[in-house]
Amino acid sequence: MRKVLGIETSCDETAAAIVCLDDLGAGHILSNVVASQIEDHAAYGGVVPEIAARAHVELLDGVINRAMDDAGAELAQLDAIAVTAGPGLIGGLIVGTMTAKAMAAASGKSLIPVNHLEGHALTARLTDGLAFPYLLLLVSGGHTQILLVEGVGRYRRWATTIDDALGEAFDKTAKLLGLPYPGGPNVERAARTGDPSRFALPRPLAGSQRLDFSFSGLKTAVRQVATSLAPLSDADVADICASFQSAVTRTLSERVGRSLDRFLSEHPGIALPTLVVAGGVAANQAIRSTLDGLCRERGARLVAPPLELCTDNAAMIAWAGLERLNAGLVPAEAFALAPRARWPLDETAAARVGSGKRGAKA
Ligand code: KG4
Ligand code: ZN
Repeated sequence: MRKVLGIETSCDETAAAIVCLDDLGAGHILSNVVASQIEDHAAYGGVVPEIAARAHVELLDGVINRAMDDAGAELAQLDAIAVTAGPGLIGGLIVGTMTAKAMAAASGKSLIPVNHLEGHALTARLTDGLAFPYLLLLVSGGHTQILLVEGVGRYRRWATTIDDALGEAFDKTAKLLGLPYPGGPNVERAARTGDPSRFALPRPLAGSQRLDFSFSGLKTAVRQVATSLAPLSDADVADICASFQSAVTRTLSERVGRSLDRFLSEHPGIALPTLVVAGGVAANQAIRSTLDGLCRERGARLVAPPLELCTDNAAMIAWAGLERLNAGLVPAEAFALAPRARWPLDETAAARVGSGKRGAKA
């Protein structure tokens, strides 16, 4: 039985968790504490890096203590301390990595730097015991990527956004329409009563052979429609939200559909081909049912981890640490680690202009 403490401070959630790996190779969450800073940032309509870093300093010790207490664990019983070392907001990353280094140095435990995206990528192995390889759609406030997950530390990025992340597009659309932050759930709610065919919003890169995403043109089109109709009635807002969500689901359908076809043709022998969806946008029911349909059509299955493990949390970081520990992938020079605001999971993938420009949320 191995036990790892995970620490996550890359954006606006201060989180700590303890996860263990039993002798049969299954993971168990012993504690999972997340202190959200949403209220600290709500007045600004987005995450303010300086406010986030300060809040992490104030919250982290208490959050770690609670995670240890909830799990009934002592520092001495841990096998390692895993910490998000990037990508994300540098102030928060410094708070997390310095805390983890201090704890590891004081206790003599191993220190495992984890890429935040790897945490998202491996969560489905903790929740569903998935075998490699599988396809991952990561859709959050900071990232929109399609990744082939081949093994621990082995990822191929097939697509990313060349401008805004999908969650960011939801948040900006909400802001333009006067809906509160975070925008995603509010846009989805408004869309339920709207007419998705009232506005023909663009789907940038539609028809392109590339798998990459682009959402900033969609946001601009929303602004134009909203400006031309102002002042907006509730029905206008609902129709714009429905039209926006329809453009998004059609884009995802096309890109993810082609990615699934590629996955199936490159891995013909897999018994149950799997698409995993992760990130806060995975909460969206219209998007989930679109993805579910794409999988069913192809004899594949959709795995969506429970929402609290889809959004930012430290259980996924502890689990990625355990996977690394198990695979012998703990760097000898971990104490020299410097947090990285930018840290692509697939270092071989070409950088995309504008992608992850906020570098803030994953
Ligand atoms: O993964 P997450 O909790 O945080 C990071 O981005 O790190 O994702 C938050 C994002 C926000 O942009 C939020 O608006 C979006 O996920 N989101 C949604 C929904 N719920 C959250 N987007 C669309 N529909 C939703 N129901
Ligand atoms: Zn994330």
